[in-house]
Amino acid sequence: MLQDIPTPTLREARSCVLETERLTLRKPTLADVKAIAGLANDRRIAENTRRLPHPYLQDHAVELIRATADGQRDIVFLIENDRTPIGIVGVNWRGPDAPELGYWLGVGHWGQGFGTEAARAMIDFTFEEFDVGQLISGARVANPASRNILEKCGFQWSGVELHRFEALGSSAPVDCFRLSRGVWSSLKNWGHSTRRMR
Ligand SMILES: CC(C)(COP(=O)(O)OP(=O)(O)OC[C@H]1O[C@@H](n2cnc3c(N)ncnc32)[C@H](O)[C@@H]1OP(=O)(O)O)[C@@H](O)C(=O)NCCC(=O)NCCS
Repeated sequence: MLQDIPTPTLREARSCVLETERLTLRKPTLADVKAIAGLANDRRIAENTRRLPHPYLQDHAVELIRATADGQRDIVFLIENDRTPIGIVGVNWRGPDAPELGYWLGVGHWGQGFGTEAARAMIDFTFEEFDVGQLISGARVANPASRNILEKCGFQWSGVELHRFEALGSSAPVDCFRLSRGVWSSLKNWGHSTRRMR
């Protein structure tokens, strides 16, 4: 059960570095504040991300780093490509139901498959490190890029809910998704088949 995850395990998990083909995912530090604020301070990101304020100031980045360094419930990774910060991916344990996947990239880094690559690494990490049965996530109905990422990662649509978006100052409809451990593990084990002509 999520509630039973021992704090040291979350603490250790936060210090991991994840490598993908093009990305490094690592714990953000105070040295990253300027870069994070520079990337996040864009309305196109804030309007699609529930808890991101706009304008996004360096103080917000400091708050994020402090909260996730000694907080109990969230894991946040800074996404780097070629040693350059490009965004954030994380999982939070705030809901009663299941851990929730969230991510954003600086606008200049959209459209190159980085969102999918980072989400996959975070999903693998969560299922491999923690005894959780499922992950949840959501995308505004007006956010096809995020919905595509979730579907490509095996998430299944579970309904529409209204969620409050801090930067909008109001609520907006969100497509909700779930990824069960069973589906994830089946996708990971789906080997290649070959075709032979007779
Ligand atoms: C969502 C976000 C992370 C996508 O990052 P990205 O690196 O550009 O996404 P990817 O390149 O991995 O792929 C997104 C998929 O959506 C598709 N896509 C992108 N923009 C699209 C659009 N406007 N309409 C339809 N499809 C779109 C891409 O073609 C791709 O699908 P494909 O691989 O089948 O071609 C980025 O747009 C972002 O940070 N948005 C603001 C914050 C946000 O929405 N976060 C998610 C909510 S928690």
